[in-house]
Amino acid sequence: MKKIKTAVLVSGGGTNLQAILDAEKSGIIKSCKISLVISNVKGAFALTRAENAGVRALCFTKKECGGQAGFEARLTRELESAGIELIVLAGFMSILSADFTAKYPRRIINVHPSLIPAFCGKGFYGLRVHEAALSKGVKVTGATVHYVNEIPDGGEIIEQKAVRVYKTDTPEKLQKRVMKQAEHIILPRAVEAVGKELLTTK
Ligand code: GRF
Repeated sequence: MKKIKTAVLVSGGGTNLQAILDAEKSGIIKSCKISLVISNVKGAFALTRAENAGVRALCFTKKECGGQAGFEARLTRELESAGIELIVLAGFMSILSADFTAKYPRRIINVHPSLIPAFCGKGFYGLRVHEAALSKGVKVTGATVHYVNEIPDGGEIIEQKAVRVYKTDTPEKLQKRVMKQAEHIILPRAVEAVGKELLTTK
């Protein structure tokens, strides 16, 4: 059965990558083949998760590529030579240029740890998102999976899941709950939905 060759871009612990790998193994993801993991951060544990799952893993930094343009040129070469058709940003902590995203319309998806349009856009990433949610005093937050375009966190929304906020929450506690109860559930679901759609429209 034809599957959509998928690359996952990572920068950190890789719990979202792990959720995707587990979902592929359990059959929740059946329209995509996770064929490549790329990290922009040396030693990211996500790379170990990829290797443990037998998935080809690459790591190259913006610095060693001589800056953003060099990084994206290398990224494009690796994606093209691997025949990648879908790119998943899973805890990937780097902004991709409008030129790059324009090459992959509706073929790059990202998980963001809030209910977009809340707490998103420039400067809202990682723990900062949860710090902002707590300082605003929201009672509900969550996660969003969306298509990536030239506007940070601005693409069409694919999936969202809400998570309760408690008075005793710290940013770290809230981040863990949003990851476990939202990100790790909706990202695999979104990967399968987008992969299935790409298979029918190919
Ligand atoms: C997650 O909250 C993700 O939304 C954010 O980075 C955190 C770590 O993700 N972008 P992971 O464990 O590396 O997948």
